[in-house]
Formats: sequence, structure tokens, C-alpha cells
Amino acid sequence: MKSFFITTPIYYVNAKPHLGHAYSTIVTDVMVRFHKMLGEDTLFLTGTDEHGDKIVQAAEKQGQTPKEFADAVSARFQALWPVLGVANDRFVRTTDEAHKRVVQAFLQKVYDAGDIYFGEFGGHYCYGCERFYTDKELKNGLCPQHRSKPEFISEKNYFFRMSKYLPWLREYITQHPDLIRPQRYRAEVLSMLESDVLEDLCISRPKTRLTWGIDLPFDHNYVCYVWFDALINYVSAIGWPAGADFDRYWPGEHLVAKDILKPHAVFWPTMLRAAGLPVYGRLNVHGYWLARDAKMSKSLGNAVDPVEMSQRFGPDAFRYFLLREMHFGSDASFSEEALTGRFNADLANDLGNLFSRVLSMAAKYFGSRTPQRGRLSADDEAVVEHCLHSLQNFIQLFGNVQFAHALESLWETVRALNKYVDSQAPWALYKHGNTERLAAVMYVLLAAMRKTALFLWPIMPAASRRMLEQLGCPVEKNAPPVVSLKEEATSFDGLASGTALAAASNLFPRVEKM
Ligand code: MSP
Repeated sequence: MKSFFITTPIYYVNAKPHLGHAYSTIVTDVMVRFHKMLGEDTLFLTGTDEHGDKIVQAAEKQGQTPKEFADAVSARFQALWPVLGVANDRFVRTTDEAHKRVVQAFLQKVYDAGDIYFGEFGGHYCYGCERFYTDKELKNGLCPQHRSKPEFISEKNYFFRMSKYLPWLREYITQHPDLIRPQRYRAEVLSMLESDVLEDLCISRPKTRLTWGIDLPFDHNYVCYVWFDALINYVSAIGWPAGADFDRYWPGEHLVAKDILKPHAVFWPTMLRAAGLPVYGRLNVHGYWLARDAKMSKSLGNAVDPVEMSQRFGPDAFRYFLLREMHFGSDASFSEEALTGRFNADLANDLGNLFSRVLSMAAKYFGSRTPQRGRLSADDEAVVEHCLHSLQNFIQLFGNVQFAHALESLWETVRALNKYVDSQAPWALYKHGNTERLAAVMYVLLAAMRKTALFLWPIMPAASRRMLEQLGCPVEKNAPPVVSLKEEATSFDGLASGTALAAASNLFPRVEKM
């Protein structure tokens, strides 16, 4: 069985989760569910990144120890995921003993191979990024991310011979055109590798300055640099070096936003190479959610609370909006008006209305039973073709992380079905006693609605279940519908006749603008 292992970034515990973190985790959940429906053996990992200066400073502000503080914030992240319909299989914390042991084993391996050395180093340190910047990387003397002045620090430290692996990395990325997607990020990494700004990576912090970290196994006066520690979570959580899960799931895929492209596209593959592990299978990179034209973040004070949004609109509608509104890879703006607008237009009007009108007609005309399929007319065949075509597009676009386009394609069918109701006018067929045509039209509608509901399962798992139940096709809780997506997209069979349907449906009652 094909395996599909995917990870989110592990989030810093210096602040509570906001919409940006929710988006990455929801998209990952959506991808896992899609691969489950393709019949793959999936594993979904997320977690929290708990070492480093940032956490120490945040804990101090609260008058707590770093561990107390990390426990509390990590718990908030863990509690959030089920609220958003996210079903991760594992949750890793970098303060877990098992993780610490793996980081030390990894460091020792690279050290023994001669790729870690001790040296003097001076650099511009940004506390926000937890990293040193070279002169060339600063913008007008400021950190390009935080636009704050970094501190110049000079000290003796351990270095990973990253520069040794850069020519290999360039070659590897060239040979594997799908390793980093969308393509613009691959191009960005290649140009980074060509620009020669990359040097060896400082991977330690002296304990005189920072103790909240993992001890270097070969020098207890130092702790490991937080990024070197954090990236290793992707293999510590699947039991490297000896665990069966490592053989079963590695190489996996990662999903991150563009802010952390460099550690994932440069540090991590060279680290893997140096430790003798295969490179990950894919890096999926998305853009930023903006609010009031700036990247949404706690520090800018424009962060949106995902809990509040999912309470107001329901987790399914919130997930739908995030996937539909952001073109994966590009930035998107978040506003409640846009969310309300899409809710009412796409979910209440298009989808909700289709279910409501078709199920109430089925109640009236067929006593809430799916009619026999019968002979299809040219109009029926046309709508069936349209539907299958859009489902095939959906699979292809989804596999390419083009979620917004995939949903747009599915919604074309939803809208076509509403038009088909208008043009076929089942009420007139009923009135004229044209039962055979009436049955064919109603069957086509119900069968297409079932397919729509099935394909929506990755994005809206709870609503999809409700829709399938209303169509007399119950799905087990917490399990994917047992169907083959590929078959569903090529054949119009799948809906049995005579099954009991719900007499009414009110899936997405309109929301009023606040
Ligand atoms: N701890 C590191 C990651 C280590 S991974 C080995 C980190 N943590 S973070 O808490 O700052 O999370 C960054 C990630 O959160 C981004 O890469 C992205 O996945 C998500 N987002 C945070 N703000 C975001 C937006 N405004 N928009 C979209 N995603 C954002 O970096």
C-alpha cells in the first residue's frame, strides 16, 4: 500500500494559535483526507517547537518557567485541532524526551562524520527569527522579516558544514523538479543557492547565553540551535533511526509557509544528507494570510482567532473558505465580509439550496425514496458528462495543491445542477404525470449530489457526512467514505434506488452580515 506522510511546521509556543497556523494545519488535514480517500496509508504529524530565546522571553513575561509556559501553550494548540475538524495522528513536542534523544543521535552522527566544527563567529542576531544574519542579508541594517535592528554577537560556536553540501543540493533540486512546489518557490531556492550568500550554519548557543535547549552530545557547555533541533522533529516523531514507522513513512512531505522556506529547502535537506538519510519527498509552500494589508501575526496585532471564526460559521464552512479563498502559494486577504459573502453565495445559495430543493421534491414526488434511474435524455447525459468532467478535474487539481481551482470546478457542477433543476422543472413533469422523465431527472440530481458530497469530505468532513446521510448513504464516523474517487469520477453508478432520503435539508442557513 502506498504511504503518505505529511507534516505541518511545528509551531512556536510563544503565542496562542492564530488563523495562519490554523490554515497550514487545515490544509494538511485536507490533503491527508484526500490521500485516505485514494486508499493510501496516511500519517499526519504536527506539533510544537518549544526551545530557544523566544520562548524564554515569553515565559519570563508571564512569570513562568519555560517548561510551564510551553506546557500551557502547547496544550492550547493540541486542543484547537479537533475544534477545527483536524485529525492529526501524532503531536510532537521538542521537549519530549524521545525527541531530545534523536536530536542528540543526529548531531553525533554528523559530528562523527566530520561535518561539525568549532569556530569563532560574529553575526547579526535577530531574536524574532532565532538566527544570525550576514551583512548582505540585512535590509538597511534591519532584519528583513521583523524590520528590527538585530544585535551583533561574537562568540565561539559549533558549525555545520552546510556549504559543503550546497552544490549537491543545487543538483538535487535541478534533478527533482517537483521537490518544491509551487514552482516559484523552487526558483527562489535555486536563486538563493546561486547567489552565494549561504555559509556554514551556526548550530549551537553557549549556555552562558541560553540554557533552554538540547545539550550538544559532544560539548555540554552548549545547547543546540533551535532550528537544527526543530527540523529533526520530522524524523524523531516516526522513530528514526530504528523505528518501523520510519521505514514505513519516510520520505514524507512537508507543508510550510514561505517565511520558513530557507530552513526547509536548504538547512533540512543538507542536514539529512550529512546524516545519511534520504531527502524528503516534497516541500509544499504557501503564502501569507494578510489582514489589513499586512501579514497576519501576533506581533502586528492583526491576528484572527480561528476558534471564534469556526464558532460563528462552523468549522466546515471556515475550512471551505480558507481553501477556496487562498490560491495555494499566493497571499490572500482575510476579512469577515469575504467569509460571510462566500458562506452565503457558495454554501447557503448554491450547495445548501440544491440539497433543500431536491430533497423536498423527492419527498413530495417519491415519498423520500431514490427513484429508478431509467433512460437518460440528451439533457441528462450532458449534465452527467459535466459532472464527471469536473470530478476528474478536481482530482487532478487537488493533487497539484490547486485547491481553489478544484473547488471552483466542483462548484461549476453545483451551479449546473441548480440550472438543470430550473430547466427540467420537475414540478411540471409531476403535474403532467411524466413519471419516467421525473424519475430520470431526480435520479441524476441525487446521484450527482452524492458525488459532490463525497468529494467534499476532505474539506468539509462533518457537512459531507450530513449530506451523505441525507442521501441515504451513511458514512462511519471518523472514517473516510469507502469509495474509489477515480471510479466515482469516471462512472455515474453508485447510488442505489429505493434508499431512504431525508425529507428536508437545511445545511447552511444564511448568516447575516455583522
Ligand atoms: N517553529 C517554527 C517552525 C519550525 S518547523 C521545523 C516556526 N513557527 S511559527 O509558529 O512561527 O509558525 C510559522 C508557520 O505558521 C508558517 O510557516 C505558516 O505555516 C504558519 N503561519 C503563521 N502566520 C501565517 C500567516 N500570516 N499566513 C499563513 N501562514 C502563517 O516558524
